[in-house]
Order: sequence, then C-alpha cells, then structure tokens
Amino acid sequence: MKTDFQTLKELHEYYAVNNRCGLRKVATQPVYEITPPTSGIVFIGEAPGKNEDLQGKPFVGAAGKFLNQLLESIGFTREDVYVSNTVKYRPPENREPTDEEKNSCRVWLNAELMFIKPKILIPLGRHAFERFVPGAKISASHGQPFEHPSGIPVFAMYHPAVALYNPNLRDVLKEDFGKLKNYLDNGGELMKNEKADNSVFSNKTKTDINDILSM
Ligand code: URA
Repeated sequence: MKTDFQTLKELHEYYAVNNRCGLRKVATQPVYEITPPTSGIVFIGEAPGKNEDLQGKPFVGAAGKFLNQLLESIGFTREDVYVSNTVKYRPPENREPTDEEKNSCRVWLNAELMFIKPKILIPLGRHAFERFVPGAKISASHGQPFEHPSGIPVFAMYHPAVALYNPNLRDVLKEDFGKLKNYLDNGGELMKNEKADNSVFSNKTKTDINDILSM
C-alpha cells in the first residue's frame, strides 16, 4: 500500500483507483477536496449527494450552502477549512451508506487524515461521529468536544442537512457552531496538547498515528 504522497490530489487519485467500494460502479465520480486547510479544521460528512456526485466536490448542494453560512457565522470561510466524507461515492437515491461501504472507504479517510494532520475533527452527523466516538449518540453529544486516542479533539455536530428537514435543528446547529467557536477561541484540549509546535501529532511517532487513525 502506498503511503508517501506529495499532495492530497495524488493521495485521492491513488485511492480512487485502489478502493473496494461497491458504490464506485454506480456513482459518477469520487468526491473529494484537494487543498489542505490553513486552519487545521476538518469536517467529515456522511456521503455525497446528487450535486456533489456531479461536481466531484463535497458539500456543494443545499446542505453545503447551510454549512457555508454556519462557517461564516463564526468567522470562517469554506476555504479556511477542509471538508470530507466517510464515504467518497454517492449512494443511489441518497440512501444512507452501509457498514460495508463505510468500511471500504475507511482506509481512504484515514490516509487523508494522516496526510492533513488535523487540529480538530468535526464529524457532521451520526455516521462520521460513530467512526470517531464509537457507541456515543449524536443526539446526546452534539455541541460538545470528545477525546480521541490520536489526541485530536472530536467536536460532535449534527449534519447540516437535518436543518433542511427539521427547522428546529437549524437553531441548534447555529448554537453548536457558537460553542465550537468558543471552544476554538479558548483553545480547549487543543492548546493543552499542542504547546510544543502546534501539532497534536508532535509527541507521537508515525507508526502510533497510523495505528490510531487506522482503527
Ligand atoms: N452530505 C454529505 O454528507 N456530504 C456531502 O458531501 C454532501 C451532503
């Protein structure tokens, strides 16, 4: 398995060929971003929808527009952050991804994270949240930070698409983004872990990180 990628584009192009996701046969193309975030902030959604499938970019449809508004409400632009998905191909009819589909994209997502070395992970919705905090419920956890064995804090967030179907959750998401801003402004676990060189990976070997992120 190749691990020495020079760019994210190279990494994605490798995994677009070397993956066993069954959705590959039915999707138009894989969906991913190729620019690492200047902020170290990484959001992880569920799976691409129709617009994403057509454009090859994550969160460019209605949920993406709301995500952009939420980011702007706390002083970030979409370009400041990186957005990915647990599954890189659109499931037919926008159904939820299966465990098998999530598992077959797992090493791809792990490789992305190892390349980027995020300062904070923000799973959007249940599928991404369960990947990082197994067994926890998003309904009880949203708007709160969680520890992850990698040392990277995981800040639980509802998926922006829920607000399109349930207007009450629109306000919850706005509030939770406010909590995220407070968390970032106050450093949270982030500062405690990273005094040395601003990298949560600073005191871990490459093998440790691979083991941790490959879980
Ligand atoms: N919903 C997701 O989870 N991901 C996308 O890329 C778009 C919508």
